[in-house]
Amino acid sequence: MPVPAANALALQGVRLDRGGRTILRDLDLTVPAGSITAVLGPSGTGKSTLLAALTGELVPAAGTLRVFDRPVPRGSRELLEMRKGIGVLLQGNGLLTDLSVAENVALPLRTHTRLPEPLLRRLVEMKLNAVGLRGAADLYPRELSGGMARRVALARALALDPPLMLYDEPLTGLDPIASGVIMSLIQRLSRSLGLTSIIVSHHVHETLPIADQVVVIANHGIVFDGTPARLQASTDPLIRQFLDGQPDGPIPFESARDGAARAEAA
Ligand SMILES: Nc1ncnc2c1ncn2[C@@H]1O[C@H](COP(=O)(O)OP(=O)(O)O)[C@@H](O)[C@H]1O
Ligand SMILES: [Mg+2]
Repeated sequence: MPVPAANALALQGVRLDRGGRTILRDLDLTVPAGSITAVLGPSGTGKSTLLAALTGELVPAAGTLRVFDRPVPRGSRELLEMRKGIGVLLQGNGLLTDLSVAENVALPLRTHTRLPEPLLRRLVEMKLNAVGLRGAADLYPRELSGGMARRVALARALALDPPLMLYDEPLTGLDPIASGVIMSLIQRLSRSLGLTSIIVSHHVHETLPIADQVVVIANHGIVFDGTPARLQASTDPLIRQFLDGQPDGPIPFESARDGAARAEAA
């Protein structure tokens, strides 16, 4: 039997470019298997870009990127195979409006497996149960609250039992109560299933309590990597500004300058 990888992710000297611009550079990061990592940072700093690299959608311009001790493949067939092991919860939920909740969750199972119908239904039921929505199987997306829709999307992301889950801004558009439900679900699922979870967010205070490791992205790179406690205790002005939500400081200055440079170039 293969030995389980110690690290879910290992990045070395990774550079990510988009539209001819370098978005992130010199990324060095390891994420232990089974841990919850929060990737925090202001909007537009490259958090979603980092996730795109992890799924193989964006090929690094430099450096090496390994997922469970294997380089992210380039070939489309190998890439599809790897992606079965990565559950992604995207910002917009991405539910299909003309399919019921149960059929939305069944979609990855229908696409990637040939399970007999009764077993497939049973799996869908279990996934919906895991996110507290057993009774919602026959509802349609338009009948769901924002929090319920997010949980359906979560159940669908979990459908193939991926060992790695990526969450892109899982709290966007949710009220504080629904946000609390989602965060505790992410924590509970990660722990009970032994998943590695990467949570990308600009919601610092909701995300930190469930994280083992925190990565802060700003100014085109990783400006902090450590435990939530170390982050909270940081005296770095850049980190303080981000944590305390101060309107002025090193972060807006940098993005304002970027914006001005782009406007000039346009
Ligand atoms: N497909 C793309 N083509 C060109 N530039 C992009 C693309 N996607 C994102 N960007 C740029 O990359 C930067 C980081 O974006 P993103 O990763 O979405 O940030 P975040 O998720 O942290 O808000 C932004 O300046 C954005 O305009
Ligand atoms: Mg984003």
